[in-house]
Amino acid sequence: MLIAIDGPAASGKGTLGKRIAGHLGLAHLDTGLLYRAVGAACLAIGKLDDEAASVAAAHALDVSTLDPETLRTGEIGEAASVVAARPEVRAALIDLQRRFAARPEGAVLDGRDIGTVICPDATVKLFVTATPEVRAERRYKELSARDPFASYEAVLADIHKRDARDSNRAAAPLLKADDAVLLDTSALGIEESFAAALAIVERARG
Ligand code: CDP
Repeated sequence: MLIAIDGPAASGKGTLGKRIAGHLGLAHLDTGLLYRAVGAACLAIGKLDDEAASVAAAHALDVSTLDPETLRTGEIGEAASVVAARPEVRAALIDLQRRFAARPEGAVLDGRDIGTVICPDATVKLFVTATPEVRAERRYKELSARDPFASYEAVLADIHKRDARDSNRAAAPLLKADDAVLLDTSALGIEESFAAALAIVERARG
């Protein structure tokens, strides 16, 4: 059972991916962390504008060292979206994602191009979305727990910017696959989103 979950920033796809994988006993890969790690590596050496440096960082990526805690900042999300627009960076990360997806029991992968590029033959594809305002509110709540200076307006501006960059890039843009089921979580809490996603998965499973 291979489950592909795509959607824009803070749509809840990561939380859903984790919950669904836990429920079904499958491994889960948050592919955003791969691009975040490449972005973070470039920021660390002051070379975010250097395409070759980002391609080298993608080739050198060690999945066992990915630390979600340090990678989930706004600055790294923005850097991830910059490096993710480069076709050679994306190409360097394809094999790793497909190997993960090829586990005999299946897997859950979430990202921007899982249903369209990485796993076009997934058993079930979900495209999770919510309005920019709802997504900004969720991300703001996460951030303000750690940062008393977090601003909702800044988070919303970041979401608009990242949506535009991720959707308009030439390389594997954020796109709903034709055969993906749309799940709009704007009016749904975590439990309701999980129940709705699980119903879609169970239906696809037959
Ligand atoms: O958690 P959030 O939705 O904010 O972002 P993420 O899933 O961690 O992804 C960070 C950035 O990586 C995105 O804005 C995309 O530009 C890029 N990304 C991508 O291009 N393809 C993927 N499969 C996953 C992430």
